Amino acid sequence: MMKLSERVLSANESQTLAINAKAKAMKAQGIDVVSLSTGEPDFPTPQVVKDAAIKAINDNFTYYTEGNGIPELRKAIAEKFMKENGLPDVKPENVLVSTGGKHSIFNVLLAMCNEGDEVLMNAPYWVSYPAMIQICGAKPIIVETTLENRFKMTPAQLEAALTPKTKCVILNSPSNPTGTMYTPDEIKTLAKVLEKHECFILSDELYEKISFGSVQHFSIGSIPEIADRVITVNGVSKAYSMTGWRIGYMTGPAALMKEAAKVQGQSTSNPNSIAQKAALAALLHTAEDVERMRKEFARRREMVAKLFSAIPGVDFLMPDGAFYMFVDISKALQSMRVKTSFEFCQEALDKHHLAVVPGEAFGAPGCVRFSFAASDETLQKGIARFAEAIKALS
Ligand SMILES: Cc1ncc(COP(=O)(O)O)c(C=O)c1O
Repeated sequence: MMKLSERVLSANESQTLAINAKAKAMKAQGIDVVSLSTGEPDFPTPQVVKDAAIKAINDNFTYYTEGNGIPELRKAIAEKFMKENGLPDVKPENVLVSTGGKHSIFNVLLAMCNEGDEVLMNAPYWVSYPAMIQICGAKPIIVETTLENRFKMTPAQLEAALTPKTKCVILNSPSNPTGTMYTPDEIKTLAKVLEKHECFILSDELYEKISFGSVQHFSIGSIPEIADRVITVNGVSKAYSMTGWRIGYMTGPAALMKEAAKVQGQSTSNPNSIAQKAALAALLHTAEDVERMRKEFARRREMVAKLFSAIPGVDFLMPDGAFYMFVDISKALQSMRVKTSFEFCQEALDKHHLAVVPGEAFGAPGCVRFSFAASDETLQKGIARFAEAIKALS
C-alpha cells in the first residue's frame, strides 16, 4: 500500500456522523432507536425559503454562479453583519459564501495555516475544529474548561496558551456542544488579551439566532481594536432549519478572504445556485419563523432541564443558547460497570437504543451531549432510556 497523507491520517473521522450512521442502520433493521445525537433543528424549512428555491429552479437559475456567491446574497450578508453584529464597514466583495459553515471554516483555515502553526480553542469544542486544523498541517491547542466556569475560557487561560506560533484563536458562542455563551463583557476582556497578540480570531456564530435571553449575543468582530483580524462565520443551517441546503458564509480581512475564495474556486466552485436564492430569502423574510423556532427551543430547554434534574448522579449546564444539553456523568461513572462516557454511549445505543454523543468527541470525557431538537415525546422517551441505562450499569 502506498503511503497516504499523514495530515489526513492524523485527523479523526466525525464521531457525530458515525453515531448517526449506526443509529440509522439500527432503525433500518426495525429497532426502535431514539436518536438525540443529531445537530440539526427538527422543523421544516420556512415556506418562503422553499418558494424561493422552487422559483429559482423554474427560472432556470441552474448554472454556475460567481465563485464567491451571487452579488445580491453577499450584499444581504454584508448588511446583516453590519446591522445585527456591529461589524465595521463590511464590503460585499469581502464576503465569501460557501457550501455550509463547515466549508467556510475549512476554506479559511486552509488559506491561513502553515505547517507547525497553532490554532487555539477551548474544550469542549465543536468536533470538526481539531480535525480540520490537522488536515491543514497545523496543530490544535486545547484550553480545558470546567462546568463550574460554564465551560468558558478565562482571559488568564487564553494569555497562558498564546505563543508566537498561535496563528488563530477560535471562539464559538453560543457553543456546540455546551450551549454556553460568552457575555459581551467577557468577550471584551478576551479581546483585550488578543489586542497584544498578532493572530487571527475566528468567531463561529452559527447558533447566533438560538439563545434564551440569559446572555446577549455579541460579535468580537465589532471591537475596533481587533476588527481587522477577525473572521466572522455564520450560516443558514441552524438559524433557519436549513442543514441540508448547505449554505454558510463569512467575512474577514480582505487578503485572507481572497485566498479563501481561491481555495473554494479551485475545489468546489460556487455554492449551489438554488440554495443561494433560498438563503437570500431566509436572510430577508423569515424573522417570524426564526422567533417561533427559538421559542420552541426555549420551551423544550425548560422541559428537558426538569427531566435531567430528576436523575441522580448527573450534573448539567443550563444552556444559554443552541439546542444541546451537555450532561456530566462522571460522578455516576465512578460506580458503573463501564468506565468512560464513550463506553456508556455505546451501551446506551446497543442495549437501550438511545443514540447520544460521548463527550470524548468534543474533548470532554465524562460528559454526554443530548440534542433537544426533537419532539416532546422523543425527548421524554430518550431521557427515560438514559436514566434506565445509568441504573442498569450502576
Ligand atoms: C459550532 C458549529 N459550527 C459550524 C457548523 C457547521 O454547520 P453547517 O456546515 O451546516 O453550516 C456546525 C454544525 O454542526 C456547528 O455546530
